[in-house]
Amino acid sequence: MSGTRKLHVKSYGCQMNVYDSHRMADLLAREGYVETAQAEDADLLILNTCHIREKAAEKIYSELGRIRGLKQRAAADGRRLTVAVAGCVAQAEGEEIVRRAPVVDLVFGPQSYHRLPALIARAAAEGRAVETEFPVEDKFDFLPAPARAVTASRGVAAFVTVQEGCDKFCTFCVVPYTRGAEISRPVAKILGEVAALAEAGVREVTLIGQNVNAFHGAGPDGEPWGLARLLRAVAEVPGILRLRYTTSHPRDVSDDLVAAHRDLPKLAPQLHLPVQSGSDRILAAMNRRHGRDDYLRTVDRLRAARPDLAFSSDFIVGFPGETEADFADTLRIVDEVGFAGAFSFKYSPRPGTPAAREDARVPEPEKAERLQRLQEAVGRRQAAFNARCRGLTFDVLLEKPGRRPGQLVGRSPYLQPVQVMAPDRLVGELVPVTVTDLGTNSLFGALAGAGGPGVPASAAGA
Ligand code: SAH
Ligand code: SF4
Ligand code: F3S
Repeated sequence: MSGTRKLHVKSYGCQMNVYDSHRMADLLAREGYVETAQAEDADLLILNTCHIREKAAEKIYSELGRIRGLKQRAAADGRRLTVAVAGCVAQAEGEEIVRRAPVVDLVFGPQSYHRLPALIARAAAEGRAVETEFPVEDKFDFLPAPARAVTASRGVAAFVTVQEGCDKFCTFCVVPYTRGAEISRPVAKILGEVAALAEAGVREVTLIGQNVNAFHGAGPDGEPWGLARLLRAVAEVPGILRLRYTTSHPRDVSDDLVAAHRDLPKLAPQLHLPVQSGSDRILAAMNRRHGRDDYLRTVDRLRAARPDLAFSSDFIVGFPGETEADFADTLRIVDEVGFAGAFSFKYSPRPGTPAAREDARVPEPEKAERLQRLQEAVGRRQAAFNARCRGLTFDVLLEKPGRRPGQLVGRSPYLQPVQVMAPDRLVGELVPVTVTDLGTNSLFGALAGAGGPGVPASAAGA
C-alpha cells in the first residue's frame, strides 16, 4: 500500500478493546496509515465495539447512522471512506451488522486483527468483507510490538494484555462467546513488551485479561507461570515503578497471588475483584462457582497480606429470580467489604446466554430502583474511603498537566486522580503527595518531603 491514509479508531467497552485498538493502529502504521482524532478526516474508520449489555451493542447502530452521513460527504468530495466494525459486536453479530447497516464495509472479530491489511484489501476488491472465524494462529504472534513513538505519546501508564478469553461461562455473560477460549501469552513476549514500554517512558503497567488471575503463560523455563510469578518478573523490569492487574475472578486468587501482594511494594494496594451479587442463591444461578463467604474469606486473606488493600467490584442487579432478600444480601456485602468503589449494572439479557432464557425476569422499575439503592450504598462507602485519605501521604504517579496552570494530575495508588501543584519536569515521576482536600471527582494534594506517614490500614478497611 502506498501514500498516507488516515485512520480513526473509536473504542467502546473494556480495556482489552483499548489495548487492541492501539495494536491495530500500530499494525496499520506499518501500512502507511496515520491516526487522526477527527472522524471526518478518516479514510478508514474502525469502531471497536462492546457486546456486554444491550445498550452498549445498540449504541453502535446509532453511531453507524451518523457515519452514513460522513461517508456520503466523503464520497461527495471524491474520497472513499471505509467503515469497519471490530470487537465483540462484530464477533457476536457478524453478517447481521451489514444487513442492518449497509454503510459497513468490513466486519471482523477480536481474534482476527492481525489479518487486517488483507481484510482491507479484500473489502476494497470485493466491496465487503466479514470475518468472524476464530483463526488457528495466535494474533499476538503476528501483531507488531507497540511502536515506540506511539507508546511514548500515550503517556506514562499503559495496559498490556496478558490473557484473553474466558472459560468460566457465567450464565449472564457474552465474553466466552465473543472472545473465545481462554489463552495466555508467553511470558517472554510480555516481558519484552513491558521493557519496550518502560523504555518509551511508561512507569506503570496494568496487566489485563478477562480473567487475568487465571493467567498460565509459558515461562522461559518451559513451565507454565501463574500471575504471581509474572508480577514478580514484571516488577523487576527497569523503569517500571508501579503495577496493577485487572480483571480478577474471585475463584482464582491463589496463595501465590496473595503472597505477591505481601511481597511486592510496587504492586498497587488496589484490587478490582467483582462479586456481582451478595446472595448465595444468585451467585449459584450466575454460575460464579463461589459463595458470599468464599468471597469474604478471599478478601480477608488478601487484607492479611496487605492491610492497606482497597477493593472495588462490579455488581449486577435484577438478575432473573433476584428477590428483595437476595438484593438485601448484596447491599450487606457492600458494607461488609467496605468497597472503595464499584460499577453496578442492571441485568441485561444477552442473546445465546443461559440466563436470557429464564422466565423469572425482574421488572424494569424494580431493577432501576435497586440500581439506585446500590449506587447510593456504594457512593457512601466511596465517599468515606476518600474522606479517610485526607491528610495521608501516598505515592502519586504524575501523568500530565492538571486543570489549572502549574498543576499536574496523577493517580494515587487507589486510582483516584490527584491534582498537585508541581513543575512539569515531574511528569512520569512517582512522588509522595499529601492529600489536602477532596474534590467531587478527584483529590487535591501537595508535594510532600521524602517519606511520609503512608496509608494506615484503617484507610482501606471497612
Ligand atoms: N471477567 C469479569 C467481568 C467482565 S464483564 C468478571 O468475571 O468479573 C464486566 C462486567 O459487566 C461484569 O463484571 C458484570 O458486572 C457486567 N456484566 C456482564 N454481563 C452483563 C449482563 N448481561 N448484564 C449486566 N451486566 C453485565
Ligand atoms: Fe464473563 Fe464470567 Fe468470564 Fe467474567 S468470568 S468474563 S463474567 S463469563
Ligand atoms: Fe465488551 Fe467485549 Fe470487553 S463485550 S467488556 S469489549 S470483552
